[in-house]
Amino acid sequence: MRAVVLESAYGIDNLKVIEKPDPTPGPGQIVVDITAATLNYRDLATVMAPSGRTPFVPCSDGAGVVSAIGDGVTRVKVGDHVAPLFFQNWFAGDPTPQGLGAALGGTLDGVLQQKVLLSEQGVTRVPAGYSDEEAATLPCAALTAWRGLVIEGKVKSGDVVVVQGTGGVSIFALQFAKAAGAIVIATSSSDEKLERAKALGADHLINYRSTPDWAKEVRRNTDGRGADHVIEVGGAGTFEQSLRAIRLGGKIAVIGILGGFVKDLNVATIFASNAYIHGVTVGSREHFESMTRAIEANGIKPVIDKRFSLDQSRDAFESMKAGAHFGKIVLRL
Ligand SMILES: NC(=O)c1ccc[n+]([C@@H]2O[C@H](COP(=O)([O-])OP(=O)(O)OC[C@H]3O[C@@H](n4cnc5c(N)ncnc54)[C@H](OP(=O)(O)O)[C@@H]3O)[C@@H](O)[C@H]2O)c1
Repeated sequence: MRAVVLESAYGIDNLKVIEKPDPTPGPGQIVVDITAATLNYRDLATVMAPSGRTPFVPCSDGAGVVSAIGDGVTRVKVGDHVAPLFFQNWFAGDPTPQGLGAALGGTLDGVLQQKVLLSEQGVTRVPAGYSDEEAATLPCAALTAWRGLVIEGKVKSGDVVVVQGTGGVSIFALQFAKAAGAIVIATSSSDEKLERAKALGADHLINYRSTPDWAKEVRRNTDGRGADHVIEVGGAGTFEQSLRAIRLGGKIAVIGILGGFVKDLNVATIFASNAYIHGVTVGSREHFESMTRAIEANGIKPVIDKRFSLDQSRDAFESMKAGAHFGKIVLRL
C-alpha cells in the first residue's frame, strides 16, 4: 500500500509517498481501506511543527471500507463503510486523559495511507447516502463544530450564532446552526466567501478585514443584545472581539488559534460578560453518532471545495496554508 509520510524532517516539502507493507488485523482489530482523507488546520500545523516526531503519517480525517477483520470482531464486517474516530479511545462520557491520549495524525500515525489498522472500537458508521469523500470531512471538523454548538452549547431555535471565517469547522457550525433554526452571523476576510456563506443560509455577513471591530456589527445586528454563541476559532485578534460580541451569559466555544495565542487578556472582560467559556477538543464516538443522526435527519451535506490525489498531497497542504479554501479540502487515496 501507499502512504504519505514525513520521513525524517518536518515541512510540506518533506512529505513523501512511500510503499509500506499491508497490515494484518490481530484479535479485535480491523483494516480500513482509506479511500478519502480531508485536511484540517491541525494537520498543517502538525506537518510544519519542528518538534514533531518522524517518521510520521499525518491526518486524522478519513473514511473508507473495512477490508479485513481479526478474531472476535463484532462491531463491523468486511464491506462496511466507516470513518475512524479522531480520538481512538474516547467512546462516551466526559473527556479523560486516556480518552484524549490516542489521536490519529497526532500521537498515532494518521490516515494518509491506503490501509489503516485500527481497533474495532475506533470507527463509526457514516451517514446514509454519504460518499467516502463526504464522510472523510466529519471526524474532526464537523464533530468539533457539533460538540461546540450542540453538545456543549445546546443551541436552540432563534439563537444567534457567530461563526468566524469560512474554514472546515466554521462552515459545519453554520450548517448545524441553520439546521437547529438559529440565526447565523458569518465573518470572513473575503466578500466572495461571504456570498457563499449566504447561499448556505448565513443571515448576516461581516467582512472582518474591512470591519475589524466586528463585535460592534454583531451588536448592531442583534439590537444591542449580542450573540448567544460564538464558535471561536481565531484566538489572538478574535477572542476579545468574541467577548464583546457575546450576550450576557452567552456561550463561547473556544476551539482554535488561527490568529495565534491570546496574550495579555483582561480577565475582567470575561467576568463582565458573564459568558460560559468552554474549551472543545473534538468529541467522542457517542457525540459522532448523535451528529450522524442529525446529518441524516436534516439532509446536511459537507462543503467540499478542492480535491487532490495522493501524489498531489504537497499541493493539498500548500492549498490549506494559502487559506483560499471554503469548507473542506479532500485527498483521494
Ligand atoms: N479544538 C479542537 O478540537 C479543534 C478541532 C478542529 C479545529 N481546531 C482549530 O480550529 C481552527 C480552525 O480549523 P479549521 O480546520 O476549520 O481551519 P481552516 O479550514 O484552515 O480555516 C481557515 C479559515 O479560517 C479563517 N481565518 C483564518 N485566520 C483567521 C483569523 N485570524 N480570524 C478569523 N478567521 C480566520 C479564514 O477564513 P476566511 O478566508 O473566510 O477569512 C481561513 O480561510 C484551527 O485553529 C484549528 O487548529 C480545533
